[in-house]
Amino acid sequence: MTMTPQRWDEINRYLHDVFGRVNGEGGDPQLADITVRARARGLPTPTVSADVGRLLLVLSLTATRGPDAAGRIIEVGTLFGHSGIWLARGLPDGGTLHTIEIEDLHADFAAEEFAAAGVASKVRQERGPALEVLQRLARTLGPTSVDMVFLDAVKTEYTAYLELCRPLLRPGGFLIADNALMADWWIDDPPGSHPGRDAMDAFNRRIAADPEFDAACVPARAGVTIARKRT
Ligand SMILES: C[S@@+](CC[C@H](N)C(=O)[O-])C[C@H]1O[C@@H](n2cnc3c(N)ncnc32)[C@H](O)[C@@H]1O
Repeated sequence: MTMTPQRWDEINRYLHDVFGRVNGEGGDPQLADITVRARARGLPTPTVSADVGRLLLVLSLTATRGPDAAGRIIEVGTLFGHSGIWLARGLPDGGTLHTIEIEDLHADFAAEEFAAAGVASKVRQERGPALEVLQRLARTLGPTSVDMVFLDAVKTEYTAYLELCRPLLRPGGFLIADNALMADWWIDDPPGSHPGRDAMDAFNRRIAADPEFDAACVPARAGVTIARKRT
């Protein structure tokens, strides 16, 4: 059986309809119109789809529970808080999402959405360039103090994010990377055709071969690489 691009679109639509529900039973009405609200305020909208959001919720619920859990997640790239709300919903009471954003316009809007979603008490917004903020968090939080990291900012910096987050992640914790397979490029474009493609290819290959991680890639939407730090 051949997977045509049209068939792939239909399967992604199915994933969205079945697993990305935000209305009705098991849904999250706060998330139903978040992209519409952000667009109306002039924000860009390269956000996770709802089915990838639900994947983040499942991973957050998994990583932040159990005797070894720290109850802490780091997100790199807040935008308007969409993926952050999914992540924060999975945290236990008293847990913390540190979400990093360089643009005040985005962070200010996200603060409103975190409050409206009822998760503000679990969210610490970290403003500034991700590479600087991650270095600060590595100093202040200390080793193995984080259950999960979600990378979704500058694609050419993903390998640097990985190295800064490596000591922060506890054994058994997850490192998740969005846009593993596409953004404004496709992963099967020729090498050298786009710096983002080449950077993501290098990141994927590095984490797939990393002796400290067991990694897989889920081809949902833009592709999500999921790596668990070995215990
Ligand atoms: C793809 S969007 C994040 C989407 C969000 N995770 C979601 O799914 O709803 C990337 C965000 O990273 C921010 N960003 C870009 N460069 C950054 C940097 N160097 N440090 C921190 N944030 C950055 C952008 O302003 C943008 O809001």
